[in-house]
Amino acid sequence: MTAQPHFAIAIDGPAASGKSTLARKLAKRLGLVMVNSGAMYRAVTWKALQENIDPHDTPAVISLLNRITLNCGDNGHTSTIAIDGFDPGDALRAQDVNANVSAISAIPAVREKLVALQRDYLNRTSIVMEGRDIGSVVFPDTPFKLYIDAAEHVRAARRSDAGEVDSVAKRDAADSNRTTAPLVVADGATVLDTSDHTIESGVDAAIEILRQQGLPI
Ligand code: DC
Repeated sequence: MTAQPHFAIAIDGPAASGKSTLARKLAKRLGLVMVNSGAMYRAVTWKALQENIDPHDTPAVISLLNRITLNCGDNGHTSTIAIDGFDPGDALRAQDVNANVSAISAIPAVREKLVALQRDYLNRTSIVMEGRDIGSVVFPDTPFKLYIDAAEHVRAARRSDAGEVDSVAKRDAADSNRTTAPLVVADGATVLDTSDHTIESGVDAAIEILRQQGLPI
């Protein structure tokens, strides 16, 4: 057995904390692939809604999960996703997906399937992966972990500035209180509050933390 040549930087945090932007910029600066794990939970939610499946009907969601094909890849810079060969694109961020994604992502069988796809990225490339349980569950052994936070009013403003209707506080409560893989500050993660940071100063702060965590940059 040879040692895994690839590594993961885990970025977790609540909705609209700035973690996606930070992950994307970090990946670009470090020459890594940025993987958006939330898009995977959104894709399953989108498909369930397309098929008029009640997101709270666990057996129906599991049956859907067993008959769909999820292709998770990358374009050299960011992750890509296709569900039964189709990329839903912006539809993944629609209001009905925002409203139902927490219910779908609380189902353990959904998490089991998506976590395996997330771990599989490391067989191909080094990544910056953002989500809710990346440092705690998906890659608990990586030394490179950040927990990104921002004040609630800052997060709500960021989402509405982006033109999205999203009950951030409600989604965070659901994501933090679920039984399986709730949003937590993972063991070994450093908390970075982006409320008073610009995008670039946030990236600089993250790079400094990663350096302290031993990333040779
Ligand atoms: O990062 P995002 O806001 O696009 O994520 C959408 C939802 O997906 C989030 O509310 C909870 C779920 N999610 C999760 O449970 N675990 C992850 N690693 C990423 C997202």
